[in-house]
Amino acid sequence: MLVIGKEEVRELLSMKECIELMKGTLMDLNEGKASMSLRSMNKLAGDDFYLLMPAYLNEKGYFGVKLITILPSNHAKNLPSHQGVVLLFSAEDGQEKATIDCISITALRTASVTAVATDLLARKDANKLGFLGAGVQARNHVESLMLVRDVEEIRVWDLHKEAAEKFAEEMSEKHNVKVIVCNNAEEVVSNSDVVTTVTLAKEPVLKGEWLKPGTHINAIGASAKAYREIDSDAVAQARLYVDKKESCTGESSDYLVPLSEGKISDDHIVAEIGDVLLGKAGARETDTEITMFEGMGLAVEDIASATYIYQKAAGIK
Ligand SMILES: NC(=O)c1ccc[n+]([C@@H]2O[C@H](COP(=O)([O-])OP(=O)(O)OC[C@H]3O[C@@H](n4cnc5c(N)ncnc54)[C@H](O)[C@@H]3O)[C@@H](O)[C@H]2O)c1
Repeated sequence: MLVIGKEEVRELLSMKECIELMKGTLMDLNEGKASMSLRSMNKLAGDDFYLLMPAYLNEKGYFGVKLITILPSNHAKNLPSHQGVVLLFSAEDGQEKATIDCISITALRTASVTAVATDLLARKDANKLGFLGAGVQARNHVESLMLVRDVEEIRVWDLHKEAAEKFAEEMSEKHNVKVIVCNNAEEVVSNSDVVTTVTLAKEPVLKGEWLKPGTHINAIGASAKAYREIDSDAVAQARLYVDKKESCTGESSDYLVPLSEGKISDDHIVAEIGDVLLGKAGARETDTEITMFEGMGLAVEDIASATYIYQKAAGIK
C-alpha cells in the first residue's frame, strides 16, 4: 500500500493533466463507466463538519472514499480549513492500494472541473477573471482558468482584506498577471467576464443586479446546504449547468432557495457538464446571456484523481 503526501500529489498530477482527466471522468460518470453515492455530511462542534465521499470506477477497476474535514474554526488557529485523505482500493480483490493526502487532490480536481465548465460556457473572448474569496481554491482556480482563457486581469474581494491582499501579491508574482484588490464584491462582479465564488459564505455574496451581459459564474464554495453564495436573482437570470443534478438538487442552497421562493422552476438546470462534453446538450448560445456552473464536487473526481496518481506512482502507467 502506497502512502502519498501533498507535495507528491502535485508532482504526479499537474493541473493540465487533471483538466483532461476530469473531462474523461465526467463523461464516464454519465456513460455508466463510474458511479457514486451522494456524500454523507457529519457534524462536529459549532460550524465544523466532515464529509465521506465514496465512488467506484467500474471500468478502471478501482473504488475508494475521500474523508475530508471542513473546520472553519481553523482560521482562528492559522490551520487549513480543509484536511483529509483518499483511501483507494482495487475492485478486483478489495486490497487497499493507496492512502493519499486529499488536500492537493481536492484543490486540483475542483479547479480543473471549473476550468472544463468555463471553457465550455464562458465567452471565447472572456479575459477578466473575478474572485469572491481568496483562499486555497481561489489560488488553484487562477492556475486552472489561465489554462483555458487568455487572462488579462484579475479582481478579488474577500471578507478579510488581508487575505485578498496576500492573494494579489502571490498571484501577480506567480502568474505575471495584474491583480486588483476590490473594496466590495460588486466591484469584482460588475467588472469581470468570469466570476468564481470560493468563500465560506452562508448568505449570498454575488447579486444578480451587478452582473453585466455575457458573464459566466462559477459557484464553487457552497458545497453543503448550510452555505450559499449566489442570490436568487442571479440564479434566475442564468442558464444553469451542474456537475451532477442529484448533488445540486439535493445539497445546493444556491439552487434550493430560489426554487423554494418560486424564482426558478425545477426544469431550470440546463444540463450536466458531462452531457455537454458528450455532445448530448448544448453550451453557451449567445455572447450576452449569463451562464452559471454550480460545482458541488463529486466523489468520482477524487477517486479518478487518486487512481491516476496511484498508477503513476506505482509505475502502472
Ligand atoms: N465545490 C467543490 O468541489 C469544493 C471543493 C473544495 C472546497 N469547496 C468549498 O470552497 C470554499 C473555499 O474553499 P477554500 O479551500 O478556498 O477555503 P479557504 O478557507 O482556504 O478560503 C476561504 C476564503 O473565503 C473567505 N471568506 C469566508 N467567508 C466569507 C464571506 N462570507 N464572504 C467573503 N469571503 C469569505 C475567507 O476569508 C478565505 O479567504 C469552501 O466553502 C469549501 O468548502 C468546494
